Amino acid sequence: MNMIQFDFSQSILFSKDELQNHQEEISNAYQTLLAKNGKGNDFLGWLDLPADIDENTLGRIQNCANGLARQSEVVVVIGIGGSYLGARAVIEALQHSYKCLNPFSDNHAPLITYAGNNMSEDCICELLEVLDQKDYSLIVISKSGTTTEPAIAFRILKKHCEDKYGKNLAKNRIVAITDQSRGALKTLADAEGYESFVIPDNVGGRYSVLTPVGLLPIAVAGFDIKKLVEGAKQMRSQLMNLNSLEQNIAQQYALSRYLLYKAGKKVELMVSFTPKLTFFIEWYKQLFGESEGKENKGIFPAGAIFSTDLHSLGQYIQQGERHLFETVISVQKTHFQVPIPMDANNIDKLNYLEGKSIQDINLTAEEGTRMAHVDGNVPNLRIIVPQIDEENLGELIYFFEFSCALGGYLLNINPFDQPGVEAYKQNMFRLLGKPQ
Ligand code: PA5
Repeated sequence: MNMIQFDFSQSILFSKDELQNHQEEISNAYQTLLAKNGKGNDFLGWLDLPADIDENTLGRIQNCANGLARQSEVVVVIGIGGSYLGARAVIEALQHSYKCLNPFSDNHAPLITYAGNNMSEDCICELLEVLDQKDYSLIVISKSGTTTEPAIAFRILKKHCEDKYGKNLAKNRIVAITDQSRGALKTLADAEGYESFVIPDNVGGRYSVLTPVGLLPIAVAGFDIKKLVEGAKQMRSQLMNLNSLEQNIAQQYALSRYLLYKAGKKVELMVSFTPKLTFFIEWYKQLFGESEGKENKGIFPAGAIFSTDLHSLGQYIQQGERHLFETVISVQKTHFQVPIPMDANNIDKLNYLEGKSIQDINLTAEEGTRMAHVDGNVPNLRIIVPQIDEENLGELIYFFEFSCALGGYLLNINPFDQPGVEAYKQNMFRLLGKPQ
């Protein structure tokens, strides 16, 4: 099987031998994770998810997805942070780039749209305008069941749905994904009789993409959740069984980041040369930002899409402050080819590219950019992905989750909590006069 690979040969600040000198540190982090006796060890459910998820659960998710897809032109996924980014990362990587203009792409699957991840009044009004005209369903996702942004969006969309379809029929268009027993969403879902799925207690939001949180929206969008889980399972088996730094790519990646951080590289710029991974990078930012950024420590996770952003951030990366390193998710193969055509007049002087595919040129741009940035003292790490499909995305998800947990343990912090997120909420509630 052609799995994803990791390359740190252009990391500038350490050699393969120097990486090996830190074998003990990464090995301790690895053993702590596998022995499940480190910080936050009550949130390690994600570690075994791909192996534990059974056919029945996948079947139930798929059946529910089929039902929603049959009755909907649009499905609105209501959630914020870990309760929507994983699904969106996978859906936007796999779906037709012009899905909204080409509704018959992706096997006639409904268009997935998102709400409850901001508090823009204009956005929700515009969504309601669209939903007036479309048949739709709602998937509302909140582990705590009390997060303000999705709760407000759900209150508004639930009312719209009930006004449009009537309270009884609306029930069949709403699915809730939440805690097994706690929270306002759980109470509401029980009271209204919505179909519900559970987010396991021991899986935090940003590690939940391989639970119904990610799998249900991905299945509604028409993608193969079995293959996604299978990819994650393959990666899990590799990372669990290959326990030496020499062989284990998550150990290599986590340790490389850590050594670069210790050497003063405080920003990781996660880069892809395909815009299809824009939301995958958003998911990565949340996973690493919330996991590592605490106790005045942690790499700042940033993102860019090249070559687009070479024309905006490229100047800074080449010659600005030397506090960043790049990690490139390098996708080797595309699904389609568009060769550059011959032009008899060659006024644009592009005939030297005739017959090359855009992907040939994109990979060459990637190589040229790597050489330039390494020359400019930007360490470069590379995650090599054969192509974008469900299996490889499953591998990538598990690889990043595992690496992130190792990275947290290297920093000696709890990678599974997010106490800092409460600060803005407390101020907002006080300013809004929320009753105690
Ligand atoms: O990773 C996390 O735990 C967070 O980003 C949550 O997913 C996010 O805050 C949403 O929380 P909830 O699912 O409880 O609404």
